[in-house]
Amino acid sequence: MDRRDFVTDLARLAALCAVVPNGWRVSGRPRFADDPFQLGVASGDPTPDGGVLWTRLAPRPLEPDGGMEGLRVTVSWQVAEDEGFARVVQQGRAMAAPELGFSVHVDVDGLAPDRWYFYRFTAGDAASPVGRLRTAPAAGAVTPLRLAVASCQHWEQGLFTAYGHLAREELDLVAHLGDYIYEGGGAPDRVRTHSGLEVRTVDDYRRRYAQYKADPLLQAAHRRCPWIVTWDDHEVDNNYAGGVGENGMESEEQMHARRAAGYQAWWEHQPVRVPRARSWADLDVTRRVSWGGLADLWMLDGRQYRSDQACGDGSRVVPCGAWADPARTMLGERQERWLADGLAASRARWQVLGNQVMVAPLDDRAGAEQRVSMDQWSGYPAARERLLRTIGERAANRAVVLTGDIHANWANELRPDFARPEQPAVAVEFVGTSISSGGDGSERWNSVTDALLAENPHLRWHNNRRGYLSCTVTAEAWTTEYRTLAYVSRPDAPVETPARWRTTHGRPGLQRL
Ligand SMILES: [Fe+2]
Repeated sequence: MDRRDFVTDLARLAALCAVVPNGWRVSGRPRFADDPFQLGVASGDPTPDGGVLWTRLAPRPLEPDGGMEGLRVTVSWQVAEDEGFARVVQQGRAMAAPELGFSVHVDVDGLAPDRWYFYRFTAGDAASPVGRLRTAPAAGAVTPLRLAVASCQHWEQGLFTAYGHLAREELDLVAHLGDYIYEGGGAPDRVRTHSGLEVRTVDDYRRRYAQYKADPLLQAAHRRCPWIVTWDDHEVDNNYAGGVGENGMESEEQMHARRAAGYQAWWEHQPVRVPRARSWADLDVTRRVSWGGLADLWMLDGRQYRSDQACGDGSRVVPCGAWADPARTMLGERQERWLADGLAASRARWQVLGNQVMVAPLDDRAGAEQRVSMDQWSGYPAARERLLRTIGERAANRAVVLTGDIHANWANELRPDFARPEQPAVAVEFVGTSISSGGDGSERWNSVTDALLAENPHLRWHNNRRGYLSCTVTAEAWTTEYRTLAYVSRPDAPVETPARWRTTHGRPGLQRL
């Protein structure tokens, strides 16, 4: 299915619902008592001739329907070459409908490659803020890329100061690797479980996204440039694996319903182009975004298709239980094949994996005994070996894995057998810290001693501050600057760059600059 069909299908769905006598009112000239664009605007998934534009109408964001009271609204959109909208190059209308949370997704095409554009929405008398969309370079064109990488924004644990700094950088793209919301905690929730307040229904998740999306710094970062977004666990449930929840308490039906709610709300709040699924619970978010001939970005889903964690999750001494079973999978067979075939076919200089959990092992036991995280790729050793052999065969020394999840910075070298550090690396991994999860942080985790780093020679650098990654990619080299903040518990922390690491196209491993 191509993207036009997808948008047409949604329009058809909306039209179908409109003729059903259901009491919903339709308005082309709505009057809003409060600004309906309080959740901002966003662009994403750029192509050489367009991208996705997003907004969601929510005059009272924390109400279950955003305060729309069932009102079906026509929203107008414009794309212009200039910020003043004197030279409008595309415009049209879209429907904001209750069944899709009054979200608006416009898949624009017909634009020129490698260009900046401005976009905005209007509904009734209300106008949205202006956002920027940058189209991707034309196929084959090797154009440098400025890419930021973000993950893990916990609203209660810290301010989104990092986004204020990110929004002031000259960037082409932001990749978000998941934990855009957290399902636990939070003020406007109703459902109390044994693990605290957790969101479960689509209305719960919508209000949680509204709470996060109202943040002005997050909005500024979205306005700045297109984003490419995937998810991790907290968009549904901490450390869930396929159809198994964190606590293993939910039935298959309950987990299916929760995934459907979480995935639908995710879609409603992100500027993404992903094909429809028969059920929201099966939404497939894996996709490739091409930056001309410079880079292909493979956005992965390491949650929906994975085998359950071995040996009861957590950190475990291995081997244990089914840990090493080659049938166990992180990506699922279909996604593994899609990635392997894609890497073989791609002619881009760099292959970039938008990945959830750390690939490199972090063994915290001295000597031959190994203890590793069951939730990370270390908990899926056969799947990790398949991944790294595939990269070694098809994209050696031009593959970069971008990772989130663990609220700390790491610079890692990846090789198919980590027990043999004398072998050359086949790829590098930049693990980006959290935007705010974990609070102020520290220079290092207490557990990261010199002895631990010696035990894990593939881990070249570590830091436990909040922030994001700022990457500069050229045909010859990939440079990652680790941006950090000294605190997120109070506003306005200045940004620092404690380390810069580079990998050179065609050469194994990392160099510190
Ligand atoms: Fe997280």
